Amino acid sequence: MPPAADKPFLRALGGEPAARPPFWLMRQAGRYLPEYRAVRAGTGGFLDLCYTPAKAAEVTLQPIRRYGMDAAIIFSDILVVPHGLGQEVAFREGEGPVLEPVRCAADLERLNVQGVTERLAPVYEAVDRVAGALPGETALIGFAGAPWTVACYMVEGRGSRDFGTVKRWAFTDPDGFDRLIRLLEQATVAHLCAQIAAGAEVVQLFDTWAGVLPERAMRRLCLDPCRRIAAAVRAAHPGVPVIAFPRGVGPAMSAYAACGDFAAVSIDQAISPDWAARHLQPHVAVQGNLDPWELVAGGSALADGIAHIRASLGGGPFVFNLGHGIVPQTPPEHVAMLAALLRGEGNRA
Ligand code: CP3
Repeated sequence: MPPAADKPFLRALGGEPAARPPFWLMRQAGRYLPEYRAVRAGTGGFLDLCYTPAKAAEVTLQPIRRYGMDAAIIFSDILVVPHGLGQEVAFREGEGPVLEPVRCAADLERLNVQGVTERLAPVYEAVDRVAGALPGETALIGFAGAPWTVACYMVEGRGSRDFGTVKRWAFTDPDGFDRLIRLLEQATVAHLCAQIAAGAEVVQLFDTWAGVLPERAMRRLCLDPCRRIAAAVRAAHPGVPVIAFPRGVGPAMSAYAACGDFAAVSIDQAISPDWAARHLQPHVAVQGNLDPWELVAGGSALADGIAHIRASLGGGPFVFNLGHGIVPQTPPEHVAMLAALLRGEGNRA
């Protein structure tokens, strides 16, 4: 294997600008790929796929084989952590995740932090398999949900429109809710460190619902926990970059960039690339931020979207990505066009 310094994705995270930006796409393994749907159809449930190392490794590698992204992200889900804690988690067809909800501090007694890495051992085995199978220039990303976003699902019991149940707990019983956040911090650090020990070279924290909180609460429940997690990961594994993806926080993103705990921030599509170049890139590498539906649209929407982002961010440390995950409606040939455009191979679509 070439040294880490030979991987373009790791060089960008280390602060080096590049003529052609390294790229990967959130949710790059998934239902838009026919070969993913084939593996998925031959597997019981979604969690069975996550917990069968040979299959999880296979679907992780599928997009790399097709498109040669600069990084692979281990195929798993943010909800394996509550599952590892002992909460009941199910993925129902067409319904998304359903959890047996945790509603008060007393419910936390049922969760077992010590058991997490043992229960999630198949995830680490999948990481180990992928690490051994990747091309030498491709980096491997491990990940976890950030405590607030994972708590949203644990408390609501499913996706939510207004997050009323979890917010009511967070605002009426801050000390009790803080116990849940601290417990998730511990579980998340253990889960990320186990992925690193198995071969992950970078880790990303997905805080999909950071933007639903008022800024003061966001800092206490999203930024501060993610900073503590990054510091603990750094203490155990110095030199492993941590990427923060606090979706929807707007200009408060600059607090993530300036705090010194993250190597990069991943920005959603609502953030202006030009603003990010001025306010974030002086501190950290920036990852983002094509609208996933511009990728669905293809054609000039895709070409113009890519060109605009590169013109703003290409002069500094930059990783091309989407502003949120790929949607299942994405034509696979549009991902091929994106890869060709980024490599300077012109418009093949
Ligand atoms: O990026 C990757 O390719 C790695 C795999 C990955 C998945 N989920 C696989 C998945 C990652 C990084 C995630 C993160 C995740 N999971 C987030 C944070 C990022 C984001 O998208 O906001 C969240 C909030 C979840 C929770 C989750 N998992 C939901 C709400 C759903 C159902 C909705 C949906 O898109 O289907 C899932 C299921 C899920 N996770 C699928 C995949 C490929 C689809 C399940 C299937 O194949 O049937």
